[in-house]
Amino acid sequence: MNRVRIWDLPTRLFHWALVLCVIGLFVTGRIGGDLMNWHFRLGYAALTLVLFRVVWGFIGGYWSRFARFLPTPGRILRYLRGQARPEDTAGHNPLGACSVFALLILVAAQAITGLFSYDEIAFAGPLSGLVSDHAVDLATRYHKAWGQPLIIGLVALHVLAIIVYTALKHHLFWPMIVGDKPLEADLAAARDTAGARILALVVLAILAAAVYALVTWGNTHGTAGFGY
Ligand code: HEM
Ligand code: HEM
Repeated sequence: MNRVRIWDLPTRLFHWALVLCVIGLFVTGRIGGDLMNWHFRLGYAALTLVLFRVVWGFIGGYWSRFARFLPTPGRILRYLRGQARPEDTAGHNPLGACSVFALLILVAAQAITGLFSYDEIAFAGPLSGLVSDHAVDLATRYHKAWGQPLIIGLVALHVLAIIVYTALKHHLFWPMIVGDKPLEADLAAARDTAGARILALVVLAILAAAVYALVTWGNTHGTAGFGY
């Protein structure tokens, strides 16, 4: 068995930071009141994290790149027939990859609709003052009635899948903590150097600044004027 670095530190930190943000978003969104200020801040953080993961999917460590785990029909069929190649399962396996893309899309949709949502009392997303009432209504409805149960359902499935794989002796959890996987095949390791980590920080800082600029711009140009 070779111990191979699969998840670079930025990917692992991204994952656990996103978990904390999403849990915090559900708690603050459901309790509401003054906690909505934190709901907004955590929402901007979640949006920044998802944007970071999109960029990292092109420039990150080998196994974190989208091209490496794009669930093509060929890869899915090979996997379902039990003929997966070692490189199909070293990172996200083709079924896991479907849930990864679905999770990223759903969290992005939740954060984007949040930017246009309005609770009709005090809290308005920073871009809600820039679009029609009808668009705000649609975004808020998606945010509350659709996005919320979809994310809860998919996260439940995600965690259940990790538990089932662990029971089947495919240990996915620990590699998401320490980065390495014991593999029989001699596969390329993900680059996880100090330089790559600094690059990740620079990308994150640029995206955080872009989200901050968008929110500030929305709050100053919108008509509602009470966004956070
Ligand atoms: C709010 C909850 C969660 C969200 C939104 C979420 C989202 C994600 C995403 C987007 C990935 C892909 C990682 C990447 O390539 O960047 C992933 C992978 C993973 N997550 Fe989560 N996750 C959540 C909760 C959890 C929890 C509670 C656990 C622990 C049991 C967990 C364990 C894992 C593992 C082990 C992987 C790697 C799976 C594999 O090897 O294919 N996740 N998750
Ligand atoms: C991944 C990100 C997000 C998640 C998981 C999330 C989740 C939630 C949840 C669970 C609620 C409570 C809905 C209910 O009462 O049943 C909520 C409400 C709300 N969220 Fe988010 N949210 C996210 C991002 C955002 C962002 C970025 C903003 C705005 C900047 C935002 C603005 C709002 C508003 C205004 C409400 C109140 C809607 C109402 O009560 O009519 N959310 N969100």
